Amino acid sequence: MQASLISLVALAALPAAVSAHFQLQLPKSRGFDEDIENEAPCGGFNASATRAPWYYQKGPIQINSEHDTATVNIYVSYDSNPTTLTSFTSNALKTDVKITGEGEFCFNNNVAGTQATNGVNATLMVEYISTVHGHLYQCSDVTFSSNQTLNEGITCTDALTATKNLNDAAVQAAGGETSNSSSSNTSNTTTSSGSTSSHHDGAIAFHSDLLVLLSVTVGAACLGLAVL
Ligand SMILES: *[C@@H]1O[C@H](CO)[C@@H](O)[C@H](O)[C@H]1NC(C)=O
Ligand SMILES: *[C@@H]1O[C@H](CO)[C@@H](O)[C@H](O)[C@H]1NC(C)=O
Ligand SMILES: *[C@@H]1O[C@H](CO)[C@@H](O)[C@H](O)[C@H]1NC(C)=O
Ligand SMILES: *[C@@H]1O[C@H](CO)[C@@H](O)[C@H](O)[C@H]1NC(C)=O
Ligand SMILES: *[C@@H]1O[C@H](CO)[C@@H](O)[C@H](O)[C@H]1NC(C)=O
Ligand SMILES: *[C@@H]1O[C@H](CO)[C@@H](O)[C@H](O)[C@H]1NC(C)=O
Repeated sequence: MQASLISLVALAALPAAVSAHFQLQLPKSRGFDEDIENEAPCGGFNASATRAPWYYQKGPIQINSEHDTATVNIYVSYDSNPTTLTSFTSNALKTDVKITGEGEFCFNNNVAGTQATNGVNATLMVEYISTVHGHLYQCSDVTFSSNQTLNEGITCTDALTATKNLNDAAVQAAGGETSNSSSSNTSNTTTSSGSTSSHHDGAIAFHSDLLVLLSVTVGAACLGLAVL
């Protein structure tokens, strides 16, 4: 019983590690942790040590959406260390973008104003609003670049429906951020040790939808109770 439960949990953990919330893929995210992604303004992460060059005249911002519908806002801050929402909200690049479907979305962004110059440091913020998790946040620390060829090979369509479903391999191939969420780490622990405590941690990190499914599938009260 313990063994079969653990293998079910291990199986389920594979999709769970990437099927939660949303990820910022391009430009490189400060970091992704689904447990704190609701912390404004940057999903719980401090400024990156290095900045990604980003073409600011038709700058691609690509996300992977894990919910059927969501609303996306994109902002830019010129503060050297923006730590509050108000650092961003006066400079909107996109507002109230309604997206449908799970998978990849890429939006072109034209930065206007006196800051739209090669070499300017900025922080981009994506606010992702769904009925499932409310407001979630991801940021990228960039330096504006007028180098158009930075975008060569990036297809950015501004489509409002998902263009393709992504997995970790595709994200990595795109040079983007993969999910270093606590769930991907604890799922390994679950598989290898199978101890009660790591099993408990793994279950907690699961996406809630999956958890319901699992509880039903297993039909075992222990999993459900472990989470409660
Ligand atoms: C962010 O910086 C603050 C202040 O330096 C620090 O206390 C906190 O641990 C940092 N957070 C992360 C996730 O590194
Ligand atoms: C932009 O950021 C880089 C790296 O963080 C830093 O070395 C540089 O001094 C910054 N430039 C300006 C104008 O602040
Ligand atoms: C522009 O970006 C491309 C692609 O990263 C790079 O190969 C090229 O050297 C850059 N050009 C300049 C002038 O920085
Ligand atoms: C994600 O985890 C891998 C392996 O543990 C590590 O090499 C990489 O630097 C991490 N990335 C971030 C953004 O923490
Ligand atoms: C994952 O766990 C390993 C050891 O269990 C640890 O060294 C590593 O820093 C963890 N990575 C993250 C992203 O938490
Ligand atoms: C988790 O396991 C997978 C597959 O065995 C491995 O590729 C990955 O590096 C592991 N992650 C951590 C954080 O140990």
